[in-house]
Amino acid sequence: MTILRIDSSINGENSASRALTDSIVEQLKAANWGEQLVTRDLVANPLPHLTFDAFADTSVLDEFLAADIVVIGAPMYNFSVPSQLKAWIDRIAVAGKTFHYTENGPEGLVKGKRVIVALARGNFYGEGAPAAPLEHLETYLKGVFNFIGVEPEFVIAEGLGVSPEHREKALAQAVGETLKLAA
Ligand SMILES: Cc1cc2nc3c(=O)[nH]c(=O)nc-3n(C[C@H](O)[C@H](O)[C@H](O)COP(=O)(O)O)c2cc1C
Repeated sequence: MTILRIDSSINGENSASRALTDSIVEQLKAANWGEQLVTRDLVANPLPHLTFDAFADTSVLDEFLAADIVVIGAPMYNFSVPSQLKAWIDRIAVAGKTFHYTENGPEGLVKGKRVIVALARGNFYGEGAPAAPLEHLETYLKGVFNFIGVEPEFVIAEGLGVSPEHREKALAQAVGETLKLAA
C-alpha cells in the first residue's frame, strides 16, 4: 500500500490544510500495515509551469499512478487551487495516460485509486452562502478527478478567516472528520 501526500500551502506550520493532511496520513498509517509514504511538498519543491517538453518527464505522473491512496492539501487561493497545485495537476491529467477521448466522449483511465482532498478556505462557500458562486476549488478538483476516473473524498475546513475562534472550531471539526476516513 503506497500513500502519496501532496501539500501546496505556503503557510508552513500555520497551515490548516497541512494540519489536515497530517491527520489524514496519520489515520491511514495507523489503519494499514506496511504502507509506504511518499511526500511531495509543492512549495518546498515547486514544479515549473507546464511546457510541451515537460511531457517527456513522466516522474510526477508515475508517482501518482503508483500510489494506492493520494492525500492532497488544497488551500483556496483566489477562489481556486494554488498555482503550485495546478502545475502538479497539469502533469497528471495526460491524454492517453489518465484519460482518453472515445466516440462517446472522454473517459477516465485511472482505476482503483483513492483520492482524499483536504480543503481550507477563509470564507464560507456552502450552498446558499453569498460567496458560493465563487467556489472554484472543490468544484474544480472534483471535476478534474472525475475526468480521469476518480471520485475524490473531501474534508473541508472553512470560514477560517472569520475569527480565531471560528478557525479553531472549524479546524477541530475537520480534524474530527479525518478520524473517520481510515474506518
Ligand atoms: C494568497 C491567498 C489567497 C487567498 N484567497 C482566498 C480566497 O479567494 N477565498 C477564501 O475564502 N480564502 C482565501 N484565502 C484564505 C485561505 O484559503 C485560508 O487562509 C486557508 O486557511 C489557507 O489554507 P492553509 O492554511 O493551508 O494555507 C487566501 C489566502 C492566501 C494566502
